[in-house]
Amino acid sequence: MLRSILGLASLISYTCASTTSVKVKWVDGTTPDYLAGMTFGVPWPRGQHLADSTTFTASDGAQIQSWVTAYWPDGSLKWTGHALGASDAPADAYTITASGSGDDGAGSRFRRQSNGIQVSESGEGIVVNTGKVSATFPKSGNVLVSAVEAGGKTVGSNGRLVLRSQSGTPDDHEDGKPTGIQYFSFTSKISNVTVSEDNSIRTLVTVHGIHTIEGEGAHDDWIPFIVRFYLYANSEAIRVIHTIIYDGDMYTDFLSGIGLRFDVPLAGEELYDRHIRIAGVDGGMLHEAVKGITGLRRDPGADIRSAQFNGSVLPDRSAWDPRVTDRLQWIPTWSDYRLTQLSPDGFNLKKRTKANSTWVKIPGGTRSGGLAYLGGATAGGLAVGLRDFWKKYPTSLDITNAATDTGSVTMWLYSPQAGPMDVRPYHDEMGQDTYEKQLDALGITYEDYEPGYATPYGVGRTNELYIYAFASTPSAEKLAVLTNNTNNPPVLVPEPEYMRDTEAIGSYWDVPSAVDSAQAKTLEENMDFLIKFYADQVEQRRWYGFWDHGDIMHTYDNDRHQWRYDVGGYAWDNSELSPDIFFWSFFLRTGRADAYRLAHDMVRHGGEVDSYHLGNFTGLGTRHGVQHWSDSAKQARISTPVYRKVFYYISGGDERTGDLVHEVLDVDKAWVLVDARRKVRDPDVVYKPDPTALYLDFGTDWAGLAQAYLIEWERRGPRWEEARDKLIESFVTYPELKYGFVTGEALYNSQTGAWAPPPTDPNNNGIIVVSHLSGVFGILETVDELITHFGPEQQNVTQPFLDAFLDYCYYYGASKAEQKARYGADFGSLTLMQGHSRFTAYVAKHRNNATLVQRVWSEFLGDGSKDGLAPDAPWQTERIGGSDVLVPVDEATWVSTNAAALYGVAAIENLAFVGAPDLNRLGGNSTAKRWM
Ligand SMILES: *[C@@H]1O[C@H](CO)[C@@H](O)[C@H](O)[C@H]1NC(C)=O
Ligand SMILES: *[C@@H]1O[C@H](CO)[C@@H](O)[C@H](O)[C@H]1NC(C)=O
Ligand SMILES: *[C@@H]1O[C@H](CO)[C@@H](O)[C@H](O)[C@H]1NC(C)=O
Ligand SMILES: *[C@@H]1O[C@H](CO)[C@@H](O)[C@H](O)[C@H]1NC(C)=O
Ligand SMILES: *[C@@H]1O[C@H](CO)[C@@H](O)[C@H](O)[C@H]1NC(C)=O
Ligand SMILES: *[C@@H]1O[C@H](CO)[C@@H](O)[C@H](O)[C@H]1NC(C)=O
Repeated sequence: MLRSILGLASLISYTCASTTSVKVKWVDGTTPDYLAGMTFGVPWPRGQHLADSTTFTASDGAQIQSWVTAYWPDGSLKWTGHALGASDAPADAYTITASGSGDDGAGSRFRRQSNGIQVSESGEGIVVNTGKVSATFPKSGNVLVSAVEAGGKTVGSNGRLVLRSQSGTPDDHEDGKPTGIQYFSFTSKISNVTVSEDNSIRTLVTVHGIHTIEGEGAHDDWIPFIVRFYLYANSEAIRVIHTIIYDGDMYTDFLSGIGLRFDVPLAGEELYDRHIRIAGVDGGMLHEAVKGITGLRRDPGADIRSAQFNGSVLPDRSAWDPRVTDRLQWIPTWSDYRLTQLSPDGFNLKKRTKANSTWVKIPGGTRSGGLAYLGGATAGGLAVGLRDFWKKYPTSLDITNAATDTGSVTMWLYSPQAGPMDVRPYHDEMGQDTYEKQLDALGITYEDYEPGYATPYGVGRTNELYIYAFASTPSAEKLAVLTNNTNNPPVLVPEPEYMRDTEAIGSYWDVPSAVDSAQAKTLEENMDFLIKFYADQVEQRRWYGFWDHGDIMHTYDNDRHQWRYDVGGYAWDNSELSPDIFFWSFFLRTGRADAYRLAHDMVRHGGEVDSYHLGNFTGLGTRHGVQHWSDSAKQARISTPVYRKVFYYISGGDERTGDLVHEVLDVDKAWVLVDARRKVRDPDVVYKPDPTALYLDFGTDWAGLAQAYLIEWERRGPRWEEARDKLIESFVTYPELKYGFVTGEALYNSQTGAWAPPPTDPNNNGIIVVSHLSGVFGILETVDELITHFGPEQQNVTQPFLDAFLDYCYYYGASKAEQKARYGADFGSLTLMQGHSRFTAYVAKHRNNATLVQRVWSEFLGDGSKDGLAPDAPWQTERIGGSDVLVPVDEATWVSTNAAALYGVAAIENLAFVGAPDLNRLGGNSTAKRWM
């Protein structure tokens, strides 16, 4: 969405460069052989280009559509989004050139491409024609896409959502004879449909709605959805971002199928010219026809057989061996096909002639590419693919009624064959009915349980699908390419050095040094080890599944050679101590695809499953646990947009991620409804649900809100001025607390952004509340991004705040004597020094204090690493096999995810702030020196 910048920029005197060229490259390092159209983002340095007078062009005459996704406070561009249309021959890289100084104001950004997308809108619906495909989106009713046309033929119709549920699960009945279970089926019901304004290269149609009962039974409408359709110029593909929110009663609403279904008109097509293609393994493809004419007792002719295998129209029947044509009526027609991927390790495949006839097994395989095509050689057809199909198991694909006039393809994001989804708590409370008992239980399983809080009500899931339309059956080879496109949609990114120089994602990361320092090399190797280790663990430990894909685990059980998947707070990680920041920063500085994928999958997981989108917890996330939502600590430290910001901007403003940021913008409402910190504050303090005096932790609560405000301000969302003003108020008032950040927790006025002394220190005499947790959920990165964003012009706002923050950064790791000299008492015993070494580095940089560099590295490498990853750790995995384990695995018992995340974040930031460790400065006997 383009917004004009309304005067603000014109107040500021400008020296804009007239032209800037930015190279964007494919993240995989190889040029894709197919491009269905895509969107990417580019950052810009402050003050370089005015938003309302800059024109963007791409190299080699590639046509792009461009829009602004973020502004610097002076109104200059901070991030832009760009769309490229479909291409059979994508370039190896593109150069995006921004030109315009602000003088001519030609507004040429709005220039429409003559061969762009055609969009027409009426009261009934929206029709989008990409040049290859035309799709009709009704504005009401049950059908999201009423028609998909290719080559003038309707090849898909009635595109709608399907959902099934049941009121109980047979698993609760030992004899397998449950009584009284009701079964429901639902379809989509549209609330509203919107279409993008600029449609030169890309059109976005957004459909909001809810699932409503279909057929028999009575059930409230439930499971709200947002489905976004992205269409690109000249593309045969429609990208679909499908989001659902769980809003059921977990004890009586068991989801048993979540899907997207399209009908495929087949009337008039010969049964032997109707084709089924289903993606198998590594580009493999099932080749079948509804009425097969191969393998018969009589041979119709080699040309005829090969035409059917290849999906071409069969020659006229007069050309066949008549012994076949005379007996065509005896050849069965196969109407239904079903692929079920109920495990990440294997899929089954079967077909039948019709309902009430048995299924016939087709050999299956390991991991299906998750794409199915149904269509005719002359009628054309539709392929539907799901990204990460097997990783999101249990999934399935149904082709039905292919022998009738209207076949259909259903992509099941949750397979009806899997049995009902059970989202109930995994234990029955175990009598934990008082706070004392809950605390005692925390002391053994590290689970922070509380009745009523282990709820999935309000969590979400987003899936990415692709619909491809064809006027005739495409080659299997083409479908294999599309299967790859579905699972690895191409990603374009600017070069790390350029992104760093813009400071659009702060100043806390740098590209790996070209200087050949052995110390820096060791750090790089260790980080490389950790990235590969987690990527491998995802696969070896099968961290896959509908809800689980994208998360990693928290702590290892050395005895069982197993991550502690069943031990309370040690199980799913839910972004604990910021692995997201490690993965994203590592990606930013190296451009590496493996880090990108880990981070991408984590964005789609943490923002959806570990966060709430409905109900009292909206905007909050859940602390780590056995189920993603099982822990009672609902906090903004998990939902904080700092974990999703890089993806948001480099994706060109992924709209779903943008929604998630907006939810956190309102997290103060959740703080009124839920005392998010009820278990961890001074027991003498009575919680008052007062929006003008919320008792918040600066690091674990406010940091998430501040990041949401920052992004709202950057992107000039509907509340950007409010967001900016509240941030300024927070900046101005926080340093007024006698001990600044060392105060830890204080009263926050969510209506103004102002801080006031905490109830434990009403007269602002100064109070010390320093926790190892405050600094490890993105506060430093958020503060750095804020300071960078405000910029030198607003130093009067930022300097006192920064000074107060730097004091905290300095004293966290300072000696007890120094703490006492400054604050009258020391901070007690603090931990996580390795992770906090970056706070020391931040002070060293901002106060230009070279003396502190030694402290940075001894915190990171020396004694400070005792709860982190030590320099003398093995830095390799060990293979465990035989009867000790279920399957052979690589383990690294010395790695915990807390430590790994902090190691990575601190190594990256220390290198950026103070440079590589210098052995000569580290002192003769330091542990660091011994091990470097
Ligand atoms: C799959 O797509 C990726 C990303 O575009 C590309 O790098 C890779 O070469 C493709 N693989 C195949 C087998 O086409
Ligand atoms: C569309 O519907 C959703 C859900 O009912 C609602 O939250 C949203 O505000 C609506 N948007 C518009 C533009 O009407
Ligand atoms: C299945 O077929 C049998 C045999 O023709 C018939 O008796 C039965 O009613 C059919 N059942 C259904 C559900 O159609
Ligand atoms: C939401 O919060 C309100 C106010 O605290 C409370 O009365 C209500 O029971 C809560 N609702 C749910 C579903 O927890
Ligand atoms: C900072 O300086 C600007 C420009 O002089 C002024 O408008 C603004 O009010 C100042 N803000 C604060 C918090 O002092
Ligand atoms: C720099 O750090 C050293 C070591 O902690 C400290 O003694 C000194 O006061 C600091 N200097 C400044 C200017 O902050």
